[in-house]
Amino acid sequence: MNNIPGDASPPARRHRQGRPSLGGLLTVCTLALLLSPATTPAASTAQPLLLAAGDLRGEIKPCGCSPEGQQGGLPRRLSYLASHLANDPQDPEQAPLLLDLGNNFPPPSAQGKLKIRLIQDLLLRFPPQAILPGPNELALGVEALDNRLPYLLSNEETGKDFTRERTVTRGGRRIGIFGYLSPTLVYQGSQQRLRLLPLSAALLERWRERQRLLGHELAVLLFRGNDEELATLLSSGLFRHIIAGNPHSDEMNQIVERVVAANRVPQVPTKGQGFLRIALDGGAATVDWLTDAWPDHADARQPFAAYDEAVKALFFARLETMEKRKAESPYLGAQACLACHAKPHQLWRASRHANAVQTLERVGKAFDPECLACHVAGLNSGGFLSMGLTPHLAGVQCENCHGPARAHALNPKANRPGLDPRRGAGRSARSGESVCRSCHVGSHSPNFVFERYWPIIRH
Ligand code: HEC
Ligand code: HEC
Ligand code: HEC
Ligand code: HEC
Repeated sequence: MNNIPGDASPPARRHRQGRPSLGGLLTVCTLALLLSPATTPAASTAQPLLLAAGDLRGEIKPCGCSPEGQQGGLPRRLSYLASHLANDPQDPEQAPLLLDLGNNFPPPSAQGKLKIRLIQDLLLRFPPQAILPGPNELALGVEALDNRLPYLLSNEETGKDFTRERTVTRGGRRIGIFGYLSPTLVYQGSQQRLRLLPLSAALLERWRERQRLLGHELAVLLFRGNDEELATLLSSGLFRHIIAGNPHSDEMNQIVERVVAANRVPQVPTKGQGFLRIALDGGAATVDWLTDAWPDHADARQPFAAYDEAVKALFFARLETMEKRKAESPYLGAQACLACHAKPHQLWRASRHANAVQTLERVGKAFDPECLACHVAGLNSGGFLSMGLTPHLAGVQCENCHGPARAHALNPKANRPGLDPRRGAGRSARSGESVCRSCHVGSHSPNFVFERYWPIIRH
Protein backbone atom coordinates (compact mmCIF):
# COMPACT_ATOMS: atom_id res chain seq x y z
CA MET A 1 0.00 0.00 0.00
CA ASN A 2 1.25 3.40 -0.94
CA ASN A 3 1.20 5.75 1.99
CA ILE A 4 0.99 8.75 -0.34
CA PRO A 5 -1.84 7.96 -2.74
CA GLY A 6 -1.70 9.51 -6.17
CA ASP A 7 1.31 9.82 -8.40
CA ALA A 8 1.57 13.58 -8.25
CA SER A 9 4.55 13.71 -5.92
CA PRO A 10 7.69 15.35 -7.29
CA PRO A 11 10.79 13.22 -7.79
CA ALA A 12 13.03 12.64 -4.78
CA ARG A 13 13.67 16.16 -3.62
CA ARG A 14 17.15 17.23 -2.74
CA HIS A 15 16.84 20.62 -1.27
CA ARG A 16 19.84 22.83 -1.74
CA GLN A 17 19.65 25.72 0.63
CA GLY A 18 20.15 29.16 -0.73
CA ARG A 19 20.31 32.50 0.94
CA PRO A 20 16.69 33.08 2.02
CA SER A 21 15.42 34.67 -1.16
CA LEU A 22 12.26 36.45 -2.11
CA GLY A 23 11.31 33.18 -3.83
CA GLY A 24 11.73 31.24 -0.61
CA LEU A 25 9.74 33.81 1.27
CA LEU A 26 6.92 33.60 -1.25
CA THR A 27 6.75 29.85 -1.01
CA VAL A 28 6.53 29.92 2.73
CA CYS A 29 4.00 32.69 3.13
CA THR A 30 2.23 34.28 0.23
CA LEU A 31 1.98 31.43 -2.22
CA ALA A 32 0.70 29.03 0.36
CA LEU A 33 -1.95 31.52 1.39
CA LEU A 34 -2.97 32.68 -2.07
CA LEU A 35 -2.87 29.57 -4.16
CA SER A 36 -3.59 26.78 -1.83
CA PRO A 37 -6.54 27.34 0.47
CA ALA A 38 -6.33 23.75 1.66
CA THR A 39 -3.08 24.62 3.38
CA THR A 40 -4.09 27.76 5.24
CA PRO A 41 -4.40 27.18 8.95
CA ALA A 42 -7.45 29.39 9.30
CA ALA A 43 -9.58 27.76 6.62
CA SER A 44 -11.64 25.49 8.83
CA THR A 45 -13.47 23.81 5.95
CA ALA A 46 -10.15 22.51 4.69
CA GLN A 47 -9.21 18.94 5.33
CA PRO A 48 -6.99 18.50 8.38
CA LEU A 49 -3.23 18.52 7.99
CA LEU A 50 -0.36 16.59 9.42
CA LEU A 51 2.67 18.66 10.35
CA ALA A 52 5.81 16.74 11.19
CA ALA A 53 9.31 17.71 12.27
CA GLY A 54 12.14 16.20 14.30
CA ASP A 55 15.84 15.36 14.07
CA LEU A 56 16.75 18.61 15.74
CA ARG A 57 19.98 16.91 16.91
CA GLY A 58 20.61 19.69 19.39
CA GLU A 59 20.52 22.47 16.76
CA ILE A 60 18.56 24.81 18.97
CA LYS A 61 19.22 27.92 16.89
CA PRO A 62 21.15 28.76 13.70
CA CYS A 63 24.74 29.64 14.65
CA GLY A 64 24.88 32.79 12.48
CA CYS A 65 28.18 31.75 10.85
CA SER A 66 26.87 32.35 7.35
CA PRO A 67 23.57 33.53 5.92
CA GLU A 68 23.17 30.41 3.75
CA GLY A 69 23.31 27.95 6.61
CA GLN A 70 20.65 29.66 8.62
CA GLN A 71 17.47 27.63 8.58
CA GLY A 72 15.64 26.12 11.51
CA GLY A 73 15.86 26.66 15.25
CA LEU A 74 13.37 26.55 18.09
CA PRO A 75 12.49 30.30 18.11
CA ARG A 76 11.27 30.09 14.49
CA ARG A 77 9.59 26.77 15.15
CA LEU A 78 7.45 28.52 17.77
CA SER A 79 6.43 31.26 15.31
CA TYR A 80 5.57 28.68 12.69
CA LEU A 81 3.46 26.67 15.12
CA ALA A 82 1.81 29.78 16.56
CA SER A 83 0.63 30.65 13.06
CA HIS A 84 -0.65 27.12 12.36
CA LEU A 85 -2.08 26.07 15.69
CA ALA A 86 -3.00 29.04 17.80
CA ASN A 87 -5.63 30.72 15.63
CA ASP A 88 -8.19 27.96 15.36
CA PRO A 89 -9.65 27.67 18.84
CA GLN A 90 -13.29 27.16 17.82
CA ASP A 91 -12.66 23.90 16.10
CA PRO A 92 -9.86 21.73 17.48
CA GLU A 93 -11.20 18.97 15.21
CA GLN A 94 -9.72 20.88 12.27
CA ALA A 95 -6.39 21.80 13.86
CA PRO A 96 -3.34 20.22 12.23
CA LEU A 97 -1.98 17.08 13.85
CA LEU A 98 1.50 17.85 15.10
CA LEU A 99 3.89 14.91 15.09
CA ASP A 100 7.55 14.66 16.01
CA LEU A 101 10.07 12.09 14.83
CA GLY A 102 12.44 12.59 17.78
CA ASN A 103 16.25 12.52 17.72
CA ASN A 104 15.97 16.06 19.01
CA PHE A 105 18.62 15.73 21.73
CA PRO A 106 22.32 16.55 21.24
CA PRO A 107 25.06 14.03 22.07
CA PRO A 108 25.47 13.53 25.83
CA SER A 109 27.56 16.13 27.70
CA ALA A 110 27.13 18.58 30.58
CA GLN A 111 26.15 21.30 28.14
CA GLY A 112 23.96 18.79 26.31
CA LYS A 113 21.90 18.38 29.47
CA LEU A 114 21.19 22.11 29.53
CA LYS A 115 20.15 21.90 25.90
CA ILE A 116 17.86 18.96 26.54
CA ARG A 117 16.02 20.99 29.15
CA LEU A 118 15.68 23.94 26.77
CA ILE A 119 14.49 21.72 23.91
CA GLN A 120 11.83 19.99 25.99
CA ASP A 121 10.68 23.28 27.54
CA LEU A 122 10.11 24.74 24.11
CA LEU A 123 8.47 21.58 22.73
CA LEU A 124 5.95 21.97 25.56
CA ARG A 125 4.85 25.39 24.29
CA PHE A 126 3.05 23.60 21.43
CA PRO A 127 3.08 19.97 22.47
CA PRO A 128 2.95 17.49 19.60
CA GLN A 129 0.30 14.75 19.65
CA ALA A 130 3.14 12.23 19.67
CA ILE A 131 6.93 12.13 19.73
CA LEU A 132 8.82 9.04 18.61
CA PRO A 133 11.91 8.84 20.83
CA GLY A 134 15.06 8.35 18.77
CA PRO A 135 18.47 6.94 19.70
CA ASN A 136 19.47 10.45 20.90
CA GLU A 137 16.59 10.57 23.39
CA LEU A 138 17.38 7.07 24.69
CA ALA A 139 21.15 7.63 25.01
CA LEU A 140 20.79 9.08 28.51
CA GLY A 141 18.10 6.68 29.63
CA VAL A 142 14.38 7.36 29.93
CA GLU A 143 15.08 9.54 32.99
CA ALA A 144 16.08 12.35 30.64
CA LEU A 145 12.61 12.44 29.05
CA ASP A 146 10.13 15.03 30.31
CA ASN A 147 7.04 13.03 31.17
CA ARG A 148 4.77 15.93 30.25
CA LEU A 149 5.63 15.26 26.60
CA PRO A 150 3.82 12.47 24.71
CA TYR A 151 6.69 10.11 23.93
CA LEU A 152 5.21 7.11 22.14
CA LEU A 153 6.64 3.70 21.14
CA SER A 154 4.47 0.91 19.78
CA ASN A 155 7.17 -1.75 19.66
CA GLU A 156 8.35 -1.52 23.25
CA GLU A 157 7.68 -4.65 25.24
CA THR A 158 7.58 -3.55 28.88
CA GLY A 159 5.07 -0.72 28.34
CA LYS A 160 6.49 0.97 31.45
CA ASP A 161 7.69 4.29 30.12
CA PHE A 162 5.91 4.88 26.84
CA THR A 163 2.39 5.17 25.51
CA ARG A 164 1.95 2.36 22.97
CA GLU A 165 -0.43 4.22 20.66
CA ARG A 166 -2.71 7.24 20.69
CA THR A 167 -6.15 7.95 19.33
CA VAL A 168 -7.14 11.47 18.31
CA THR A 169 -10.15 12.71 16.37
CA ARG A 170 -9.90 15.03 13.42
CA GLY A 171 -12.70 15.93 11.01
CA GLY A 172 -14.98 13.50 12.88
CA ARG A 173 -12.67 10.55 12.34
CA ARG A 174 -10.74 8.45 14.81
CA ILE A 175 -7.07 8.50 13.93
CA GLY A 176 -4.51 6.12 15.39
CA ILE A 177 -0.92 7.19 15.92
CA PHE A 178 1.75 4.50 16.19
CA GLY A 179 5.53 4.67 16.46
CA TYR A 180 8.26 2.22 15.45
CA LEU A 181 11.91 2.60 16.45
CA SER A 182 14.10 -0.13 15.04
CA PRO A 183 15.92 -2.14 17.73
CA THR A 184 18.92 -2.13 15.36
CA LEU A 185 19.41 1.58 16.12
CA VAL A 186 19.57 1.35 19.90
CA TYR A 187 22.17 -0.34 22.06
CA GLN A 188 19.91 -2.06 24.54
CA GLY A 189 22.60 -3.50 26.79
CA SER A 190 22.59 -0.30 28.85
CA GLN A 191 18.82 0.06 28.69
CA GLN A 192 17.53 -2.47 31.15
CA ARG A 193 14.17 -0.74 31.30
CA LEU A 194 13.66 -0.84 27.58
CA ARG A 195 12.90 -3.78 25.30
CA LEU A 196 12.39 -2.87 21.66
CA LEU A 197 10.76 -5.59 19.59
CA PRO A 198 11.80 -6.18 16.00
CA LEU A 199 9.15 -6.21 13.30
CA SER A 200 7.32 -9.51 13.13
CA ALA A 201 4.00 -10.91 11.97
CA ALA A 202 2.94 -11.08 15.63
CA LEU A 203 3.69 -7.40 16.21
CA LEU A 204 1.78 -6.33 13.10
CA GLU A 205 -1.12 -8.52 14.19
CA ARG A 206 -1.12 -6.88 17.61
CA TRP A 207 -1.28 -3.43 16.00
CA ARG A 208 -4.09 -4.52 13.66
CA GLU A 209 -6.02 -5.74 16.69
CA ARG A 210 -5.47 -2.43 18.54
CA GLN A 211 -6.68 -0.46 15.50
CA ARG A 212 -9.83 -2.60 15.40
CA LEU A 213 -10.50 -2.34 19.14
CA LEU A 214 -9.93 1.40 19.24
CA GLY A 215 -12.02 1.99 16.11
CA HIS A 216 -9.28 3.70 14.11
CA GLU A 217 -10.55 4.82 10.73
CA LEU A 218 -7.09 5.86 9.63
CA ALA A 219 -3.65 5.32 11.10
CA VAL A 220 -0.32 7.14 10.99
CA LEU A 221 3.06 5.56 11.76
CA LEU A 222 6.11 7.45 12.95
CA PHE A 223 9.06 5.41 11.73
CA ARG A 224 12.79 5.23 12.29
CA GLY A 225 14.55 2.21 10.87
CA ASN A 226 15.92 0.62 7.70
CA ASP A 227 14.47 0.17 4.21
CA GLU A 228 13.68 -3.49 4.73
CA GLU A 229 11.55 -2.73 7.78
CA LEU A 230 9.93 0.12 5.89
CA ALA A 231 9.02 -2.17 2.98
CA THR A 232 7.36 -4.63 5.38
CA LEU A 233 5.39 -1.85 7.04
CA LEU A 234 4.30 -0.37 3.70
CA SER A 235 3.00 -3.71 2.50
CA SER A 236 1.17 -4.40 5.78
CA GLY A 237 -1.55 -1.97 4.70
CA LEU A 238 -1.98 -0.87 8.31
CA PHE A 239 -1.10 2.79 7.80
CA ARG A 240 -2.45 5.56 5.58
CA HIS A 241 0.67 7.59 6.35
CA ILE A 242 4.17 6.55 7.27
CA ILE A 243 6.51 9.40 8.16
CA ALA A 244 10.19 8.69 8.58
CA GLY A 245 12.93 10.18 10.71
CA ASN A 246 15.99 11.44 8.85
CA PRO A 247 19.14 9.31 8.95
CA HIS A 248 21.31 12.00 7.32
CA SER A 249 23.19 14.79 9.04
CA ASP A 250 24.16 16.97 6.05
CA GLU A 251 21.80 19.91 6.34
CA MET A 252 23.11 21.42 3.12
CA ASN A 253 21.75 18.47 1.11
CA GLN A 254 18.37 17.84 2.61
CA ILE A 255 16.81 14.53 1.63
CA VAL A 256 13.15 14.72 2.56
CA GLU A 257 11.83 11.62 0.86
CA ARG A 258 12.71 7.95 0.90
CA VAL A 259 11.76 5.72 -2.00
CA VAL A 260 11.20 2.13 -0.94
CA ALA A 261 9.62 -0.53 -3.13
CA ALA A 262 8.21 2.20 -5.43
CA ASN A 263 6.61 4.01 -2.48
CA ARG A 264 7.59 7.55 -1.59
CA VAL A 265 7.90 7.98 2.13
CA PRO A 266 8.22 11.54 3.40
CA GLN A 267 11.15 12.10 5.72
CA VAL A 268 11.41 15.10 8.06
CA PRO A 269 14.17 17.61 7.25
CA THR A 270 17.32 17.08 9.28
CA LYS A 271 18.50 19.47 12.03
CA GLY A 272 14.97 20.79 12.56
CA GLN A 273 15.21 22.98 9.47
CA GLY A 274 11.62 22.58 8.33
CA PHE A 275 8.21 21.00 8.69
CA LEU A 276 6.65 18.35 6.51
CA ARG A 277 3.10 19.30 5.60
CA ILE A 278 0.83 16.47 4.53
CA ALA A 279 -2.92 16.46 3.87
CA LEU A 280 -4.53 13.86 6.11
CA ASP A 281 -6.46 12.39 3.19
CA GLY A 282 -3.42 12.02 1.00
CA GLY A 283 -1.43 13.87 -1.62
CA ALA A 284 2.23 14.67 -1.86
CA ALA A 285 4.11 15.94 1.18
CA THR A 286 5.61 19.41 0.93
CA VAL A 287 8.20 21.11 3.12
CA ASP A 288 7.92 24.47 4.83
CA TRP A 289 11.49 25.57 5.50
CA LEU A 290 12.15 27.59 8.64
CA THR A 291 13.91 30.46 6.91
CA ASP A 292 14.25 33.92 8.43
CA ALA A 293 10.79 34.64 6.98
CA TRP A 294 9.72 33.17 10.35
CA PRO A 295 10.72 35.60 13.11
CA ASP A 296 12.07 34.45 16.46
CA HIS A 297 9.07 34.00 18.74
CA ALA A 298 9.07 36.18 21.86
CA ASP A 299 8.34 33.16 24.09
CA ALA A 300 11.76 31.74 23.20
CA ARG A 301 13.68 34.77 24.47
CA GLN A 302 13.62 34.05 28.20
CA PRO A 303 14.39 30.29 27.95
CA PHE A 304 17.32 31.05 25.62
CA ALA A 305 18.66 33.77 27.93
CA ALA A 306 18.47 31.28 30.83
CA TYR A 307 20.28 28.69 28.72
CA ASP A 308 23.10 31.13 27.85
CA GLU A 309 23.48 32.02 31.54
CA ALA A 310 23.68 28.34 32.52
CA VAL A 311 26.27 27.66 29.81
CA LYS A 312 28.32 30.57 31.10
CA ALA A 313 28.12 29.27 34.68
CA LEU A 314 29.25 25.84 33.51
CA PHE A 315 32.16 27.48 31.72
CA PHE A 316 33.38 29.31 34.82
CA ALA A 317 32.91 26.23 36.98
CA ARG A 318 35.57 24.60 34.83
CA LEU A 319 38.06 27.45 35.11
CA GLU A 320 39.77 26.18 38.21
CA THR A 321 40.83 22.89 36.68
CA MET A 322 41.76 24.89 33.63
CA GLU A 323 44.23 27.07 35.58
CA LYS A 324 46.35 24.00 36.24
CA ARG A 325 46.45 23.07 32.60
CA LYS A 326 47.55 26.54 31.55
CA ALA A 327 51.05 26.05 32.90
CA GLU A 328 51.49 22.88 30.84
CA SER A 329 50.15 24.26 27.57
CA PRO A 330 51.98 23.25 24.40
CA TYR A 331 50.52 26.37 22.73
CA LEU A 332 52.41 29.68 22.64
CA GLY A 333 50.16 32.06 20.72
CA ALA A 334 50.92 34.08 17.60
CA GLN A 335 52.83 36.82 19.43
CA ALA A 336 55.62 34.33 20.11
CA CYS A 337 56.07 33.70 16.38
CA LEU A 338 56.41 37.38 15.48
CA ALA A 339 60.14 37.68 16.12
CA CYS A 340 61.08 35.01 13.58
CA HIS A 341 58.07 35.08 11.19
CA ALA A 342 57.26 38.78 10.84
CA LYS A 343 55.61 38.55 7.42
CA PRO A 344 53.17 35.66 8.19
CA HIS A 345 52.35 37.37 11.47
CA GLN A 346 51.53 40.65 9.79
CA LEU A 347 49.27 38.94 7.22
CA TRP A 348 47.57 36.89 9.91
CA ARG A 349 47.01 39.96 12.14
CA ALA A 350 45.12 41.62 9.27
CA SER A 351 42.93 38.58 8.55
CA ARG A 352 39.51 37.83 10.02
CA HIS A 353 40.99 34.77 11.72
CA ALA A 354 42.75 37.05 14.22
CA ASN A 355 39.46 38.56 15.39
CA ALA A 356 37.30 35.47 15.57
CA VAL A 357 36.61 35.87 19.31
CA GLN A 358 35.53 39.49 18.90
CA THR A 359 33.05 38.11 16.38
CA LEU A 360 31.63 35.81 19.06
CA GLU A 361 31.59 38.63 21.61
CA ARG A 362 29.51 40.66 19.19
CA VAL A 363 26.78 37.99 19.24
CA GLY A 364 27.07 37.22 22.98
CA LYS A 365 28.51 33.71 22.51
CA ALA A 366 32.10 34.12 23.70
CA PHE A 367 31.42 31.74 26.61
CA ASP A 368 29.91 28.93 24.58
CA PRO A 369 32.41 26.09 24.07
CA GLU A 370 30.44 24.86 21.07
CA CYS A 371 31.26 28.14 19.33
CA LEU A 372 34.76 28.68 20.75
CA ALA A 373 35.88 25.33 19.34
CA CYS A 374 36.46 26.89 15.89
CA HIS A 375 37.05 30.49 16.96
CA VAL A 376 40.10 30.06 19.28
CA ALA A 377 43.34 28.05 19.42
CA GLY A 378 43.43 24.67 21.12
CA LEU A 379 40.15 24.58 23.05
CA ASN A 380 40.00 21.29 25.00
CA SER A 381 43.48 20.31 23.88
CA GLY A 382 45.64 22.30 26.27
CA GLY A 383 45.19 25.70 24.58
CA PHE A 384 42.55 28.39 25.06
CA LEU A 385 40.83 28.46 28.45
CA SER A 386 39.20 31.88 28.73
CA MET A 387 39.77 35.47 27.67
CA GLY A 388 40.96 36.21 31.19
CA LEU A 389 43.47 33.34 31.44
CA THR A 390 44.66 32.93 27.87
CA PRO A 391 43.97 36.09 25.85
CA HIS A 392 47.04 35.24 23.73
CA LEU A 393 45.19 32.21 22.32
CA ALA A 394 42.02 34.03 21.23
CA GLY A 395 41.04 33.85 17.57
CA VAL A 396 42.00 31.38 14.88
CA GLN A 397 45.77 31.25 15.18
CA CYS A 398 48.95 29.97 13.56
CA GLU A 399 48.75 26.96 15.86
CA ASN A 400 45.21 26.06 14.75
CA CYS A 401 46.67 25.16 11.38
CA HIS A 402 50.29 24.34 12.23
CA GLY A 403 49.64 22.55 15.52
CA PRO A 404 51.04 23.49 18.96
CA ALA A 405 54.46 25.05 18.38
CA ARG A 406 56.10 25.62 21.78
CA ALA A 407 58.68 22.93 21.09
CA HIS A 408 59.41 24.45 17.67
CA ALA A 409 59.91 27.99 18.97
CA LEU A 410 62.37 26.72 21.58
CA ASN A 411 64.34 24.77 19.00
CA PRO A 412 63.25 25.66 15.45
CA LYS A 413 65.62 23.40 13.57
CA ALA A 414 64.86 20.31 15.61
CA ASN A 415 61.08 20.62 15.63
CA ARG A 416 59.46 21.72 12.39
CA PRO A 417 55.76 22.25 12.71
CA GLY A 418 54.38 21.85 9.16
CA LEU A 419 50.59 21.45 9.23
CA ASP A 420 48.63 19.87 12.05
CA PRO A 421 48.01 16.16 11.34
CA ARG A 422 45.09 16.22 13.81
CA ARG A 423 43.30 18.34 11.24
CA GLY A 424 43.74 15.83 8.47
CA ALA A 425 47.05 17.21 7.17
CA GLY A 426 49.27 14.65 5.54
CA ARG A 427 51.98 14.98 2.95
CA SER A 428 49.67 15.51 -0.01
CA ALA A 429 49.25 18.81 -1.85
CA ARG A 430 45.69 19.02 -0.54
CA SER A 431 46.83 19.02 3.09
CA GLY A 432 46.15 22.74 3.42
CA GLU A 433 42.61 22.21 2.25
CA SER A 434 41.83 19.45 4.74
CA VAL A 435 43.13 21.69 7.53
CA CYS A 436 40.69 24.43 6.48
CA ARG A 437 37.83 21.98 6.19
CA SER A 438 38.11 21.01 9.83
CA CYS A 439 36.35 24.35 10.50
CA HIS A 440 35.05 25.53 7.14
CA VAL A 441 32.41 22.79 7.06
CA GLY A 442 28.72 22.54 6.26
CA SER A 443 26.58 25.44 7.29
CA HIS A 444 29.53 27.11 9.04
CA SER A 445 31.05 28.01 5.68
CA PRO A 446 28.82 26.95 2.81
CA ASN A 447 30.72 29.02 0.24
CA PHE A 448 34.12 27.59 1.11
CA VAL A 449 36.27 26.85 -1.91
CA PHE A 450 39.94 26.37 -1.12
CA GLU A 451 41.15 28.06 -4.31
CA ARG A 452 39.25 31.23 -3.42
CA TYR A 453 39.85 31.28 0.35
CA TRP A 454 43.54 30.40 0.50
CA PRO A 455 44.74 33.42 -1.53
CA ILE A 456 43.01 35.70 1.02
CA ILE A 457 45.20 34.38 3.87
CA ARG A 458 48.28 33.12 1.94
CA HIS A 459 51.53 33.88 3.82
C1 HEC B 1 63.27 31.55 17.35
C2 HEC B 1 62.72 31.72 16.03
C3 HEC B 1 61.42 31.06 15.74
C4 HEC B 1 60.26 31.16 16.44
C5 HEC B 1 59.99 31.89 17.74
C6 HEC B 1 59.26 30.45 15.66
N1 HEC B 1 59.83 29.91 14.55
FE1 HEC B 1 58.89 28.89 13.10
N2 HEC B 1 60.64 28.62 12.11
C7 HEC B 1 61.83 29.12 12.52
C8 HEC B 1 62.86 28.69 11.58
C9 HEC B 1 64.33 29.03 11.68
C10 HEC B 1 62.20 27.91 10.61
C11 HEC B 1 62.81 27.22 9.43
C12 HEC B 1 63.19 25.84 9.88
C13 HEC B 1 63.92 25.08 8.84
O1 HEC B 1 63.85 25.47 7.69
O2 HEC B 1 64.54 24.09 9.22
C14 HEC B 1 60.80 27.90 10.96
C15 HEC B 1 59.85 27.24 10.24
C16 HEC B 1 58.49 27.29 10.53
C17 HEC B 1 57.47 26.70 9.73
C18 HEC B 1 57.68 25.98 8.43
C19 HEC B 1 58.05 24.58 8.73
C20 HEC B 1 58.31 23.79 7.51
O3 HEC B 1 58.28 22.57 7.65
O4 HEC B 1 58.57 24.37 6.45
C21 HEC B 1 56.30 26.95 10.36
C22 HEC B 1 54.89 26.50 9.90
C23 HEC B 1 56.59 27.67 11.56
N3 HEC B 1 57.93 27.86 11.64
C24 HEC B 1 55.64 28.10 12.46
C25 HEC B 1 55.95 28.77 13.62
C26 HEC B 1 54.93 29.17 14.57
C27 HEC B 1 53.43 28.88 14.45
C28 HEC B 1 55.58 29.82 15.56
C29 HEC B 1 54.99 30.46 16.78
C30 HEC B 1 54.22 29.59 17.69
C31 HEC B 1 56.98 29.81 15.24
N4 HEC B 1 57.15 29.16 14.06
C32 HEC B 1 57.94 30.36 16.03
C33 HEC B 1 62.07 29.92 13.61
C34 HEC B 1 61.14 30.26 14.56
C1 HEC C 1 40.17 26.56 13.68
C2 HEC C 1 39.14 26.80 12.70
C3 HEC C 1 39.55 27.33 11.35
C4 HEC C 1 40.48 26.81 10.49
C5 HEC C 1 41.36 25.57 10.68
C6 HEC C 1 40.45 27.65 9.33
N1 HEC C 1 39.55 28.66 9.48
FE1 HEC C 1 39.20 30.20 8.20
N2 HEC C 1 37.87 31.00 9.48
C7 HEC C 1 37.53 30.48 10.71
C8 HEC C 1 36.63 31.37 11.37
C9 HEC C 1 36.00 31.15 12.73
C10 HEC C 1 36.45 32.47 10.52
C11 HEC C 1 35.57 33.69 10.78
C12 HEC C 1 36.36 34.68 11.55
C13 HEC C 1 35.54 35.89 11.87
O1 HEC C 1 35.07 36.57 10.95
O2 HEC C 1 35.41 36.19 13.06
C14 HEC C 1 37.24 32.19 9.33
C15 HEC C 1 37.33 33.05 8.26
C16 HEC C 1 38.11 32.82 7.16
C17 HEC C 1 38.23 33.70 6.05
C18 HEC C 1 37.54 35.04 5.89
C19 HEC C 1 36.32 34.87 5.02
C20 HEC C 1 35.83 36.15 4.46
O3 HEC C 1 34.69 36.12 4.00
O4 HEC C 1 36.57 37.12 4.47
C21 HEC C 1 39.07 33.13 5.14
C22 HEC C 1 39.49 33.67 3.79
C23 HEC C 1 39.49 31.88 5.70
N3 HEC C 1 38.88 31.72 6.92
C24 HEC C 1 40.34 30.99 5.07
C25 HEC C 1 40.80 29.81 5.63
C26 HEC C 1 41.71 28.90 4.98
C27 HEC C 1 42.24 29.05 3.57
C28 HEC C 1 41.98 27.91 5.86
C29 HEC C 1 42.90 26.73 5.69
C30 HEC C 1 44.24 26.99 5.23
C31 HEC C 1 41.23 28.20 7.08
N4 HEC C 1 40.53 29.35 6.89
C32 HEC C 1 41.25 27.41 8.22
C33 HEC C 1 37.98 29.29 11.24
C34 HEC C 1 38.97 28.50 10.70
C1 HEC D 1 32.93 24.00 12.84
C2 HEC D 1 33.54 25.27 13.15
C3 HEC D 1 32.67 26.40 13.66
C4 HEC D 1 31.86 26.38 14.76
C5 HEC D 1 31.56 25.22 15.70
C6 HEC D 1 31.30 27.70 14.86
N1 HEC D 1 31.79 28.49 13.87
FE1 HEC D 1 31.30 30.44 13.53
N2 HEC D 1 32.43 30.43 11.84
C7 HEC D 1 33.14 29.37 11.37
C8 HEC D 1 33.74 29.69 10.10
C9 HEC D 1 34.59 28.77 9.27
C10 HEC D 1 33.35 31.02 9.81
C11 HEC D 1 33.70 31.82 8.55
C12 HEC D 1 32.68 31.49 7.49
C13 HEC D 1 33.03 32.06 6.13
O1 HEC D 1 33.26 33.27 6.04
O2 HEC D 1 33.04 31.28 5.18
C14 HEC D 1 32.53 31.45 10.94
C15 HEC D 1 32.00 32.73 11.05
C16 HEC D 1 31.18 33.13 12.09
C17 HEC D 1 30.60 34.44 12.22
C18 HEC D 1 30.85 35.59 11.28
C19 HEC D 1 29.69 35.75 10.34
C20 HEC D 1 29.91 36.98 9.47
O3 HEC D 1 29.69 36.83 8.27
O4 HEC D 1 30.32 38.02 9.99
C21 HEC D 1 29.85 34.44 13.35
C22 HEC D 1 28.99 35.57 13.90
C23 HEC D 1 29.96 33.12 13.94
N3 HEC D 1 30.79 32.36 13.15
C24 HEC D 1 29.32 32.74 15.11
C25 HEC D 1 29.35 31.45 15.63
C26 HEC D 1 28.58 31.03 16.77
C27 HEC D 1 27.62 31.91 17.56
C28 HEC D 1 28.86 29.72 16.97
C29 HEC D 1 28.29 28.79 18.02
C30 HEC D 1 26.86 28.67 18.05
C31 HEC D 1 29.84 29.33 15.95
N4 HEC D 1 30.11 30.41 15.17
C32 HEC D 1 30.39 28.07 15.85
C33 HEC D 1 33.31 28.14 12.00
C34 HEC D 1 32.62 27.73 13.11
C1 HEC E 1 44.29 29.12 8.62
C2 HEC E 1 45.45 28.31 8.67
C3 HEC E 1 46.79 28.97 8.89
C4 HEC E 1 47.07 29.94 9.80
C5 HEC E 1 46.14 30.65 10.76
C6 HEC E 1 48.48 30.20 9.67
N1 HEC E 1 49.01 29.40 8.71
FE1 HEC E 1 50.95 29.33 8.15
N2 HEC E 1 50.45 28.11 6.61
C7 HEC E 1 49.23 27.57 6.40
C8 HEC E 1 49.26 26.80 5.20
C9 HEC E 1 48.08 26.00 4.60
C10 HEC E 1 50.57 26.91 4.70
C11 HEC E 1 51.12 26.27 3.45
C12 HEC E 1 51.69 24.98 3.87
C13 HEC E 1 52.09 24.13 2.72
O1 HEC E 1 51.80 24.48 1.59
O2 HEC E 1 52.73 23.13 3.03
C14 HEC E 1 51.30 27.73 5.63
C15 HEC E 1 52.65 28.04 5.52
C16 HEC E 1 53.39 28.64 6.53
C17 HEC E 1 54.83 28.75 6.58
C18 HEC E 1 55.76 28.19 5.58
C19 HEC E 1 55.87 29.17 4.49
C20 HEC E 1 56.84 28.69 3.43
O3 HEC E 1 57.20 29.53 2.64
O4 HEC E 1 57.14 27.51 3.44
C21 HEC E 1 55.17 29.42 7.72
C22 HEC E 1 56.56 29.77 8.21
C23 HEC E 1 53.94 29.71 8.39
N3 HEC E 1 52.89 29.24 7.65
C24 HEC E 1 53.86 30.37 9.59
C25 HEC E 1 52.69 30.83 10.13
C26 HEC E 1 52.62 31.73 11.27
C27 HEC E 1 53.79 32.24 12.03
C28 HEC E 1 51.29 31.97 11.48
C29 HEC E 1 50.66 32.87 12.50
C30 HEC E 1 51.19 34.20 12.60
C31 HEC E 1 50.55 31.19 10.50
N4 HEC E 1 51.44 30.52 9.70
C32 HEC E 1 49.19 31.11 10.45
C33 HEC E 1 48.11 27.72 7.18
C34 HEC E 1 48.00 28.64 8.20
